Amino acid sequence: CGIVGYIGSKDTKEILLNGLEKLEYRGYDSAGIATLNNEGLNLFKVKGRIAALRDRVDHSVEATMGIGHTRWATHGVPSATNAHPHQSTSGRFTLVHNGVIENYQDLKRDYLGDVQFVSETDTEVIVQLVEKNFKKTNDTAEAFRETVSHLKGSYALALIDNEDQETIYVAKNKSPLLVGLGEGFNLVASDAMATLKETDQYLEINDQEIVLVSRNYVEIQKLNGETVEREPYTAQIDVSDTEKGTYPHFMLKEIDEQPFVMRKIIQEYQDENNDLKLDEDIRAAMKECDRIYIIAAGTSYHAGLVGKQFIEKLAEIPVEVHVASEFSYNMPLLSEKPLFVFISQSGETADSRAVLVKIKELGHPALTITNVPGSTLSREANYTLNLYAGPEIAVASTKAYTAQMAVLAILAVDTARAKGLELSFDPMQELAIVASAMEALTDQKETVEELARDYLATSRNAFFIGRSTDYYVCVEGALKLKEISYIQAEGFAGGELKHGTIALIEEGTPVIALATQSEVNYGIRSNVQEVVARGANAMVVSMKGLEQDTDAFVIPEVHELLTSLVSVVPLQLLAYYAALHRDCDVDKPRNLAKSVTVE
Ligand code: G6P
Repeated sequence: CGIVGYIGSKDTKEILLNGLEKLEYRGYDSAGIATLNNEGLNLFKVKGRIAALRDRVDHSVEATMGIGHTRWATHGVPSATNAHPHQSTSGRFTLVHNGVIENYQDLKRDYLGDVQFVSETDTEVIVQLVEKNFKKTNDTAEAFRETVSHLKGSYALALIDNEDQETIYVAKNKSPLLVGLGEGFNLVASDAMATLKETDQYLEINDQEIVLVSRNYVEIQKLNGETVEREPYTAQIDVSDTEKGTYPHFMLKEIDEQPFVMRKIIQEYQDENNDLKLDEDIRAAMKECDRIYIIAAGTSYHAGLVGKQFIEKLAEIPVEVHVASEFSYNMPLLSEKPLFVFISQSGETADSRAVLVKIKELGHPALTITNVPGSTLSREANYTLNLYAGPEIAVASTKAYTAQMAVLAILAVDTARAKGLELSFDPMQELAIVASAMEALTDQKETVEELARDYLATSRNAFFIGRSTDYYVCVEGALKLKEISYIQAEGFAGGELKHGTIALIEEGTPVIALATQSEVNYGIRSNVQEVVARGANAMVVSMKGLEQDTDAFVIPEVHELLTSLVSVVPLQLLAYYAALHRDCDVDKPRNLAKSVTVE
């Protein structure tokens, strides 16, 4: 979910609606805003997107303070009733919340037995508790602090009191929240991207802090009331990076940006002598550890699978790759000197953060590889490597995935060199070749569009098969297709398909095979024959040098270690055009959010 709040002198509706539009990547099931003026509170909520909310809002009502929310449903179905902001029974207090309150049932039972609830959300419990506590003290700040001290779980909160047009009450634990500073106004947002048009000055808020945000001052307090001093930082994002420009979709723009991202990474990780430029502490941590545990979710997990190969082959350190949401409860036996590597585009994924908290308690070091400097996972880990991919807005990750693999390759080579291992592989030279190959591929959109139409426009399901590194790219290609076209798709190791899943191959079932690895070219070609013999509509994407006449698409030749960075591009485009052919909402697929800040 995403939160915005504003208190100043301008009319707040547009600031809230614009901000929420920029936060839709965090969820878009339902949305709402509440603004406060001398006539009282104005509350608008809808099921659906911010565009629907914009239609619902009464644009004649002006106010200079307010809060807004875009939701990714956890407790309660998406509906106007369950949409935020939520109000207390008297209507005096109004609240938006991102996160999950774990003890909301207990709070309801212990303190709110006499209250009539209107929604099914854990959020309503918070706002009702504020009202209950207010009745005891007659002091909103006190009632808010008392309420927050009872909450267990994750929350970013912004509360307004109808009787006070001077304060937005804010609190945070685990869920991201920033306070933006301006001349005669201040604001709150889940992500600086939402409010860049207003200000580039932001204050980080730490867990278990409360903030009183007024027009002319901001006061950060600990839960015990002690005030905290903190210097603001300047957000380094360019507003134009968050716009689509002439592209029909962010996803297509971001696919096209991949060659530039590769060149940016080369530039950022190379010094004037063409040596790799990496923090000495990271180098030392990599050299010292005896095993690496990569922790990630979704697409970042898929980048981790490829990263394991880089690190094991080049730096000769054993690597395990784990899905974040499983790790905490199913922890493997750890080695003597583990190093944890968190891969996360957003740096906010709650599943990954839960692991970080746990391994920090155990005293192990952590490195975060992320696209968002200053994100929670970056701040809380010992070390950070940035992806330099620029804001990624489309829910389906593309340029962050290839950037993650590029940075992992650089990290692996740097470690190998630090360990004194002989390598003939020059990552910067090879990544430059990758960048040119990506460019050649993004120039072939029409070919991929035709393939998408021929193979995927009407199919119910699809299989991606590959061996070795190609298998990892197949899992990612299948995820892309599932996410945005809703075709049931699976990525399989070529040799494994025959051990069960081949039962699903029927006349016309699309099978997309990757063939970029010389060692397994023969093997994957045999697997293609096996499915064709059972009626599959097979399409082979191969690499130059390994191609056959019947291949549907041939990618330019790049170093065999780095094929994944290139072979994924046609798969990203396939998913994109399949989704278009099926009239799907490419940038905002159903049920998903880009940044999932709940476990
Ligand atoms: C969400 C997104 C996925 C993403 C995953 C991990 O589920 O929908 O596209 O891969 O989170 O996100 P992260 O920001 O940690 O890379």
